[in-house]
Order: sequence, then C-alpha cells, then structure tokens
Amino acid sequence: MAKYAHVTGWGMSVPERVMTNDDIARLVDTSDEWIQDRTGIRERRIAGPEETTGTLATQAALRALNVANLSPRDVDLIIVATSSPEHLFPSTASMVQDQLGAVDCGAFDLLAACTGFIYALSIASDAIRSGAIENAVVIGSETLSRLVNWNDRSTCILFGDGAGAFVLQGSEEEGGVLSSFLRSDGSGGDLLSIPAGGSSHPASNHTIDNDMHYIQMNGREVYRFATRVMARATNHVVHKANLTLDDISLIIPHQANLRIIDAAARGLKLPLERFMINVERYGNTSTASIPIAAVEAYEQGRIQPGDNIVLVGFGAGLTWGALALQWSGPILTRREIDPRTTRVRARLRSYYRRLGRRIEGLLFGKDS
Ligand code: ACO
Repeated sequence: MAKYAHVTGWGMSVPERVMTNDDIARLVDTSDEWIQDRTGIRERRIAGPEETTGTLATQAALRALNVANLSPRDVDLIIVATSSPEHLFPSTASMVQDQLGAVDCGAFDLLAACTGFIYALSIASDAIRSGAIENAVVIGSETLSRLVNWNDRSTCILFGDGAGAFVLQGSEEEGGVLSSFLRSDGSGGDLLSIPAGGSSHPASNHTIDNDMHYIQMNGREVYRFATRVMARATNHVVHKANLTLDDISLIIPHQANLRIIDAAARGLKLPLERFMINVERYGNTSTASIPIAAVEAYEQGRIQPGDNIVLVGFGAGLTWGALALQWSGPILTRREIDPRTTRVRARLRSYYRRLGRRIEGLLFGKDS
C-alpha cells in the first residue's frame, strides 16, 4: 500500500490570445496605471472560440502525464477543480477523462472556487495514501472570461483563462504531500458569487436582465479576508508537517493580487523573493493559478526535486487552504507519451463508444 503521494508530473496550457490593460481600458473606464498599481496585473490570456475549460484542462493533463511518463490508461482518478465548469453536469472531469482516453478511471469536478486546486490535491493525496488508488491527475482549469461582466470595471480587470495540472502517484518512498489545511466560512458567500444559473436562481429573463450570471464581488471585503488568512494557513501547514518556514524554499500563493501576496509576505516576515509571482502575465486564473505558477517556477529553476514548498490560496465560499509538499519529479522511467497519438486514440475510442451506444439503442431500445 502506498504511503506517500508524490507530485511526479506537471503541465500547463494557456490560450494564445493576450489581453492587455490597455485593451480593457478601451472597454471600460480604467487605465493600465490603475490596474497595475492596485493589482500588479499587466495582461491576461483569453480563450478563443475553440478553447474551453475542458480543452485547456486536457492539454495541461497530457503535458503533466508526459512529464510523469504515465499513460492515461494508468490513471485511477481525475479531479478537475474549476469555478467555470463546462456545464452544471456532466462534469468537466468526465469530458477530460474521455478526451484523454483514461479508460479505467473515476472523474469528478470539485468546486471550492480559487482554493479548489489545493482542496483537490489534498483529496487525491488522501485517496492515494489510503490505498484506494495509485495514480491521480489533479487539474485546475478556467475560462472565467466567459463569466465576467465586461462592463464591470471592478471585476473584469482581474480574471484570466488557463489550466494547470499535477500528476500524483503513490510510492513507499518518503516525500510528496506532507500536510494540508482546508477551511470554509459560508457566512461570506455573498462577497463573491455568480448568483444565477444554479438551482436557486435558474436562468430567466429576470436573471439575465439583472446581470446575475456574471461574477459579482465586494472587492474590499474579499481583500481584507484574503490578507487575514494567507499567512495563517501557511504557518499551519508548515507546523503540521513538522517544518519551519526556513525549511520552505518557495511559497506558491494564489495569484489574485500582488498586494495580497505582499501582505502575506509581511505577515510571515519573509521577503517577497520567497514567493512565486506571475500574476502580472495571467491575472487571476482561479483554480489554475497555483499549478500554472508551479510549472513556471519549475521551468525557471526555482523548484528542484527534494525542495519543500507551500501552496496557499483563498477564494469564494469563502474558502481558504494550504498544502505543504516535497517536490518529487518522475518516478517512472522515460516513456514518451505523444499527445497527438493519445488524443487521436481517445477520440476514436469515444466515437466508437457513441456509435456502439446508438446501435445498441436501435437494436434493444424498445425492449428495455
Ligand atoms: N479602474 C479605475 N478605478 C476603479 C476600478 C478600475 N478598474 N475599479 C474600481 N475603481 C475605483 C472605485 O470605483 C473606487 O472609486 P471611489 O473611491 O470613487 O468609490 C476606487 O477605484 C477604489 O475602489 P476599491 O474597490 O476600494 O479599490 P481597491 O484598492 O480595493 O482595489 C480590487 C480593488 C483590486 C478589486 C481589490 O479590492 C482586490 O483585489 N480585492 C480582492 C479581489 C480578489 O482577489 N478576488 C478574487 C478572489 S478568488 C476567487 O474565488 C475567484
């Protein structure tokens, strides 16, 4: 039985299209200077017509599987943490499972807003450590540009699209996920929400006329909450892992606002250099922000195998959480997973399954 859940693969996928602050200033009354000064954001990526939460997630997952040398057939569980799922149901995770051709696999979406990736990693790690599964793909993926009100300058400046994924694998070797901390305070649910489109306010002319399908936020209150919880959550997981802050080489915070990260650094009495920051290029990509930042930190040489790092985030719910882990890297020997072949195979498989279902329906539909 696996005792430890290791991060053995990582990948990201962001849309090509870049939207700068000046582009937004052409839509609403704002400026590059105001946005950079209040948030640290310079630009963000926006999904094209063919890109969805599911396609970005699949791309990021394939890249992560390639790093881990793991075939989609060996994946036991896919969790897609997302605040912008393709539908209420079916889950985006099931779509990803189909597009990957992960044939022996459970899949579900997890909703904990921007803290979702930390929640999902924690759950997947526990499933591995319990012996229930061996291999999991955990994805954060968003197309929030489709849920943002492009007439609301207080929210549309903040968000961007993208996806990031980790592969988690069980092993007897010590390391991997060391500790986690998950919290929620639903009394602050109204501070950041998409009021309509669910079962409490299903789509109607009224909800549409009142912009209730868009993100609504009390920015000042969310800001105050975020600056309160980030340092505390970080300290909690470090302590729980029997480490001190000196043992942590890098903190990867949710990339919502540079000022919030700065406040967390001050709260922990750490220099900003100990934090991974890329909010200036992607804005707030919700569940995707931490894995995207982790992938870039690795590519920049800021994470090495054996390093202890902390992931920490907050979001709607309200939710917040942190996770301490020792970075591992691939535990399987090199085996090229060609993304194109994998996708073609998965598509063919999906096509034949649909065809088979139709034929079965024609032959036996009336009897059943
Ligand atoms: N351009 C120019 N002026 C603006 C803009 C804009 N884009 N947006 C607001 N303003 C104005 C306001 O109208 C206000 O004007 P007033 O003083 O005349 O009323 C002034 O700027 C200050 O507004 P504040 O809201 O107080 O600005 P603040 O410094 O708090 O910055 C911000 C706003 C950036 C939204 C900040 O509050 C913030 O980052 N909050 C946290 C948001 C967040 O992280 N949300 C994501 C959570 S994660 C998830 O689950 C999705």
